[in-house]
Amino acid sequence: MKILVIGGGGREHAVIAKLSQSPKAEKIYCAPGNGGISKLAECADFKATDIKSAVAFAKEKNIDLVVVTPDDPLVLGMVDAMEKEGIRAFGPRANAAIIEGSKVFSKELMKKYGIPTAGYEVFTDPAGALSYIKTQNKFPAVIKADGLALGKGVIIAKDLKEAEAAVHTIMEDKIFGESGARVVIEEFMTGPEVSVLSFCDGKTVVPMVSAQDHKRAFDHDEGPNTGGMGTFSPSRIYTPEIADYCMEHIFKPTVAAMASEGREFRGVLYFGLMITPDGPKVVEYNARFGDPETQVVLPRLKTDLLDIMNACIDGTLDRQKIEWDDGACVCIVMASGGYPGKYETGFEISGIEDAESRGIVVYHAGTRAEGGRFYTKGGRVLGVTAKGSDLDDAIKRAYDGVKLIDFKNKHFRHDIGVK
Ligand code: AMP
Ligand code: GLY
Repeated sequence: MKILVIGGGGREHAVIAKLSQSPKAEKIYCAPGNGGISKLAECADFKATDIKSAVAFAKEKNIDLVVVTPDDPLVLGMVDAMEKEGIRAFGPRANAAIIEGSKVFSKELMKKYGIPTAGYEVFTDPAGALSYIKTQNKFPAVIKADGLALGKGVIIAKDLKEAEAAVHTIMEDKIFGESGARVVIEEFMTGPEVSVLSFCDGKTVVPMVSAQDHKRAFDHDEGPNTGGMGTFSPSRIYTPEIADYCMEHIFKPTVAAMASEGREFRGVLYFGLMITPDGPKVVEYNARFGDPETQVVLPRLKTDLLDIMNACIDGTLDRQKIEWDDGACVCIVMASGGYPGKYETGFEISGIEDAESRGIVVYHAGTRAEGGRFYTKGGRVLGVTAKGSDLDDAIKRAYDGVKLIDFKNKHFRHDIGVK
């Protein structure tokens, strides 16, 4: 099969690394890709959201399967556009990707089908939102823009002043554009968070191994929120009992709910869960592989990913064998100093080959390749990843890899995998 993967970060690198192990993968293209991806796939120079170019490219190269990985092209309908031209595509159609694209949609779905999540109200005008916050007078208050907002559309306001500022910036200054036309105000939940990605074929849902993300920039969960500074799999708190509960009360009901709404979900459905004192609840759904969760989940997959993707498209997931490694996997993000704020790029990276020769897998998130060398080109630069017999072993091996890699102003956390 000739495959086109849409996207260009660490997650796409991990997807392509797994797909390239399939004996059926004849040639892989990636758009836009990155420096590290260019070693495994031929990179095409168009944006992940450019549906017209993606369709034209898929036709020109006779692509057999398009894998749409990021949220925005899914929500914009790239899978629908491919299917309209008779091109096979992995990922939900726009009418199912809305489960990530609209928080109002996902909250209403959960309410209608009794899926555990935080209580909420929806507002279309700032005055209504503010008067509700004042009457509730419960802090922290959780304020969410309805639509996609580059992962930044959630504000946890610790007092009325912060809540007022949040409503103003989302609904009036429209910092996330039309995504902020409606807001969801949610009850604040507490407890550890677990990410469970799953394969879906519209009817059947098969959860992958669990993972946990470290979102804050600095050690001990301090500093600003980032796209993720590191991940590990499995989660220590996601016990078989919790997994069974989630399967019966969250995973299966969500997939069945989408089907009854005429929005069959095919692709990867990501469950962001909080294990609260009242049991597991949904924090968010994503309509795709998580980043950087994918970097620790896929290395543990023993089955051919291409076979699983085909089963998701064909509706035969109930007959597809899916096997995982028993061990653990840890990914440490090496970022540009200053990220998630301002940072400089263009610095040469050394030591990648050295780490790779010792069995460390280095996923590229933001790099550029030139003359056989790699240079930094983004906030998150690399995901230094190692498997181990258990979490402690994987943590040690991943940090041994980090020690070998260097670039100017590098920044990474020292406590990935510890929580
Ligand atoms: P989301 O984009 O919906 O995943 O939200 C981003 C982060 O905000 C989550 O990973 C949680 O840490 C936090 N969060 C979101 N909703 C809630 C809530 N209702 N209660 C507490 N924390 C939340
Ligand atoms: N790591 C969270 C996400 O992919 O949205």
